[in-house]
Amino acid sequence: MEHKQLKSFPNNFLWGSASAAYQIEGAHDQDGKGPSVWDVYTKIPGTTFKETNGDVAVDHYNRYKEDVALMAEQGLKAYRFSIAWSRLFPDGRGEANEAGFQFYDDLIDELIKHNIEPVVTVYHWDVPQALMDAYGAWESREIIEDFNNYCTAIFKRYGDRVKYWVTLNEQNIFIGLGYRSGIHPPGVKDLKRMYQANHIANVANAKAIETFRGIVKDGKIGPSFAYSPVYPFDSKAENVIAAENAEEMNSHWWMDIYAWGHYPQVIWNYLEDEGLAPKVEAGDFELMQRAKPDFMGLNYYQTTTVKANPLDGVGETTMNTTGKKGSSKESGNPGLFKNVQNPYSETTDWDWTIDPEGLRIALRRIANRYQLPILITENGLGAFDTLEEGDIVNDDYRIDFLETHATAIQRAISDGVDVLGYCTWSFTDLLSWLNGYQKRYGFVYVNRDEDGPKDLRRIKKKSFYWYKEVIKANALIDRSSL
Ligand code: BG6
Repeated sequence: MEHKQLKSFPNNFLWGSASAAYQIEGAHDQDGKGPSVWDVYTKIPGTTFKETNGDVAVDHYNRYKEDVALMAEQGLKAYRFSIAWSRLFPDGRGEANEAGFQFYDDLIDELIKHNIEPVVTVYHWDVPQALMDAYGAWESREIIEDFNNYCTAIFKRYGDRVKYWVTLNEQNIFIGLGYRSGIHPPGVKDLKRMYQANHIANVANAKAIETFRGIVKDGKIGPSFAYSPVYPFDSKAENVIAAENAEEMNSHWWMDIYAWGHYPQVIWNYLEDEGLAPKVEAGDFELMQRAKPDFMGLNYYQTTTVKANPLDGVGETTMNTTGKKGSSKESGNPGLFKNVQNPYSETTDWDWTIDPEGLRIALRRIANRYQLPILITENGLGAFDTLEEGDIVNDDYRIDFLETHATAIQRAISDGVDVLGYCTWSFTDLLSWLNGYQKRYGFVYVNRDEDGPKDLRRIKKKSFYWYKEVIKANALIDRSSL
């Protein structure tokens, strides 16, 4: 659809940016914090790029005031961050750690003081290690109650000031990488366990939403989903079916539950035939149907293009975590689909497809299928940046990326999609889980690398100034003056 004129961004559009506790806070054992699974997993040799971990990260825990001051200088309207569960409950349950609660109180107050809307992610992958040790974390239904108690505590404590809440961040990723490819904690490769853990996470998510309704009456809540819209490689029917398979299996499997409380039929049948369908207990579907989100959180990075894949075809393979372009291998799901390169798109150094219009497609598909407003909870470019003399980072490639994606958002708004806001990933540079510190996403460069924290100095990149002007104008701008 082409528009003669694009609609403007709404006046209250949340121009934001995002982060996650483990990736920025550091202070891994400061002030009574307990270990999360990531504190433990990253210490196992060979799990992350150059053995990097978040012990120090970018030390946001001790520098949050400086970081919020930079957000205020940029004019950020919203800041999405996550709470580290084991900072509040070192053992995941039982005794609370007041110092941890106080940290987020201070951060929230600092944001509000600068007119920045806090958007809080309840869970960004860092389940307390104590719960992993006690019962296997997401693999046991015991976590439903522990997660609900944790949620109750934070809704009560911060719900007076925080009105936007994100429940589980990218459940499809932490479950998929944790139990299918085995490259996130707990490092398991077992599909039966994966679908079961995922179902338990669905129930926990729904219960948390139901709890929220009783505590934060004027707040909005929803999950954030890593949606990668699927394209068929061409119009050959077998490739179109492959694309349907991938869309159902990779996306509807999660989003249908969030929005409707039931699993898509075709994939349910497939999993039953394979002996992989999760065990559902009485009341689960009823709870999930009651607990509707207020919005769908969308983490958008790329689209996926697929072809048919025979039963003896390609399966899981390795990911590019080094930034050596072209080093990732073809992967797929035998009998269902395999991922192939989109001939019309470029890729990043980590082999992620760059497809701005894919964001418009994602927004339209979600809006059409679920009739929910959408909060873009993540979108950004992981790239190598060069710190030039005089503390300058000319990241025009990042501006190109964000500008083309913001244009796609404006087109989607013009198409009629209700988009609440745009949280770029990320505000400062941070630890990129498996990829170390060299894969940078921020508007603010942090002077550290894989070899150590250096001075952790904050340096505003060119993209920082670009976004500042966009926010001020509430519109995309002419870049020539930057
Ligand atoms: C999302 C996560 O998957 O993508 C973020 O929610 C993550 O935590 C981001 O950092 C980018 O992924 P990566 O692997 O490049 O850090």
